This record gives sequence, C-alpha cells and structure tokens, in this order.
Amino acid sequence: MPETYDLLLSGGTIVNHDGAGERDLGIRDGKIAAIGDLARASAGETIDCRGLHVLPGVIDTQVHFREPGHVHKEDLETGSRAAVQGGVTAVFEMPNTEPPTTDASALADKLRRARGRMHCDFAFFIGGTHQNIAELPELERLPGSAGVKVFMGSSTGKLLVADDAGLRAILKAIRRRASFHAEDEPRLEERKSLRVVGDPHSHPVWRDETVALRATTRLVTFARELGRRVHVLHVSTAEEIEFLAAHKDVASMEATPHHLTLEAPDCYDRLGTRAQMNPPLREGRHRAALWRGLKAGVVDILGSDHAPHTLEEKAKPYPASPSGMPGVQTLVPIMLDHVAAGRLTLARFVDLSSAGPARVFGIAGKGRIAAGYDADLTVVDLKRKETIRNGLIASRCGWTPYDGVEVTGWPVGTFVRGAKVMWQGELVAAGLGAPVRFLESLPHAAS
Ligand code: DOR
Repeated sequence: MPETYDLLLSGGTIVNHDGAGERDLGIRDGKIAAIGDLARASAGETIDCRGLHVLPGVIDTQVHFREPGHVHKEDLETGSRAAVQGGVTAVFEMPNTEPPTTDASALADKLRRARGRMHCDFAFFIGGTHQNIAELPELERLPGSAGVKVFMGSSTGKLLVADDAGLRAILKAIRRRASFHAEDEPRLEERKSLRVVGDPHSHPVWRDETVALRATTRLVTFARELGRRVHVLHVSTAEEIEFLAAHKDVASMEATPHHLTLEAPDCYDRLGTRAQMNPPLREGRHRAALWRGLKAGVVDILGSDHAPHTLEEKAKPYPASPSGMPGVQTLVPIMLDHVAAGRLTLARFVDLSSAGPARVFGIAGKGRIAAGYDADLTVVDLKRKETIRNGLIASRCGWTPYDGVEVTGWPVGTFVRGAKVMWQGELVAAGLGAPVRFLESLPHAAS
C-alpha cells in the first residue's frame, strides 16, 4: 500500500539540518510525516516544487503589530498578512501597544484578537515594568507568551525600566530568557540636545554607540550575577558585537536586516526620517562588524523589528517623527538577496531565521524540517528577480524603505502547520494562525 499524505511537496530542494538536497516532503495532520523519495505515495494535494527551495518556516521574533491602540498603523490581521506574503510562518509580537501587554488580561485580549484573524502563528511578549515584577514569573509562562521584553531606553510607547535596581529585580524574578531593548536611558537624556531639528542624521549622534554598549554591558553583568539568560534585540554597534562574543553563555543576540543592509549617512540622505529607528542605523564600520558577527556565529537570530508608522507620521520634522520602519514582509527577500550576493549561505540564513529562534526561545515543534515537527515551510525561488515596491506591501502603513530595490530571491510559498497560506503572492487560507508553544510552558512543564 502506498503511503498517503494530506500534502506532498515534490521535487524541491529541501534545506535542512543535514544539508540541502532534492527530496519530497510528505505532510499529514499538519506535521512533517516523511522526507525522501515519495514518488509512489498519494496525497490530497501535490505541489510541484522543482526549481524551488523549501526552507523551515521563517520565524520573526520581533514585530510590532500595533493592536490594540494604534490600528491606523497596523493590526494583527494586516501585520500577519504582510508576514505570510513575505514567507514568514510565525511572529513574536512586542508589548508596546496601547494598552501595553503587561498583565494577563492584556495578553488574553491579544490572543483573542489573534484567533481567526492572524494568518501566521504567533506569540506575544509581556512588557516588564516596575509594577508587574511580582507577576512576571506567572506571566512569562502563560500559553501564548513569548516571555518578558524590557525597554531599558525609551522608544515608541511608555514602557521603560531605566534603573539598575528595576532591571535586577526583573531578572531575579524570571526564569525564561527575556528580551531587551538595550539603550541606556540616562545617557539618552543627557544627550537630547544633540538632536538637530529637521535632520535625522543627528539620530545616531544622539543615540550613539556608547548608549547601546553601556546598556548591553549593564544587562550582561546583571545576567551573569543572577544566573539568567538574556536576549539582546537589534544589536547595532561594533562594540556590542565584540562584547557579546565574549558572553555567549548568557547572552543571545538579534540583528535586523535593516542594520545589515542600510548605513549612515546614505540612508538618511536618501530616506530622511523613514530611516529613523531605535537603535539607529549607523555608519559602515558598524554594519561591517554586524556581518563579521553574523559570519562568526555571534549573531543568533534575524528579527525584522517591523515597526510600522504612517508616511504622514514619518513626514513630521525630526525629532517629532516616530522611530521605526516596516520589515516583516521584506526580511526574506532582502536576506535572500544577500545570499545571492554571497554574503551568507542559505544554510546560515535558515540557522538565523528558524533554528536560531527555536534554540534561543525553546520553541516546541518548530524550526526544523524533521519528522514530527510542525509543517511550517517557507518556499523560495532563489533565482527570481523582483523589484520591491511600496505597492506590494500588505502592511497597513503601505511603504517600505526598500521601495525600488531589485532583489534576487523571492518567497513564493508560506505553509503554516501543513496549510498552504500563501502561494505565488496570493493569500489562499486566511486566519489559521495559532499560538506558538514553548518548551518551558508546555502544560506538563515543571514549575
Ligand atoms: O525604532 C523603533 N520602533 N524601535 C523600537 O524599539 C520600537 C519601535 C516601534 O514600536 O515603533
């Protein structure tokens, strides 16, 4: 009797933990059931993937989807639509919404809103504050929680824990790896006068490399002292790469495609306040160091830091303009273009976008193409040339810093737990997203 699958991806090049090779993929009940020559098998649907590469689903562990509170910029539906159009199968969403996600009811509210509306799988970060420290041990382990996120420097929204005592108390309270926006608030305050009205070139002058390094150093020192694991989001400086390379046992780190692709002063010359984000895009020596860190393995994860604001908001004169730019839909194409240019291998891309998130955050059943794992897949055409255009952007903000940029490599299919969600640019199954599960908060996990 030939084997029967719900879905068969045939003839694609599977990129996997054991290398890349042409193999078929059999999917049953939303999970990978078989990998190999499945020519004799039958299936409900067979998709010819010859000429395409099949990657483990891309997990974007840093997005801001603005719901509730700022849905004129984005909501969970539009943000996740942009994600799956860009080949992303799961997202971790940030807590700086309005209200912020700082208690169980705010998390429950987001989970309720996500069900039936989000097109990819999801988890939500809990914002760590001075007020909710006692509840964090419970909050970080709730189903659907990606753990705790702390803003050490102020950015979009009001979440902020600037002081050592607050930071230490949070680290002491929690058990899971927490994620940090590492910019030093006292130094940001001191240097505010360096902002030049109307000139975003002054953004990285104000938020300089010492702002970033000082916060990252404080954080890692406390993590080591208290025996905790920390994840440093959107690392932006050469100094932090060097520092973090010596602390891999306690600290993981993320790089964004923006910091790997855009640099000052050119980005501010061309894009003005559209290039304004926190931490800032910096000059070439920092970008070069991020690439060295990526090659050396210091970088664990690629996150988009998708932070949509409307063009009208971005058009306000600096520094009234908000920080952040969209990125969830362009993460895969921009990074595949770097692959095409020989800056990283496809295997390393998979390591950074699937295996890395699974390892760092302890995701259950995702991040590999392996029997028994969720059939989350990102299917890409490495040869396809496309020009990124604002008109292609599914995010409600409707723009991208890469408008007009030609890339080689394009996501053509997004599969979430065996469901074909996006194929050749069409959303073909809507609202199927479910909470990501974590090893440390599975129902049976010891407390
Ligand atoms: O530039 C940024 N924008 N950095 C952040 O940390 C927050 C984000 C946002 O939410 O707009």
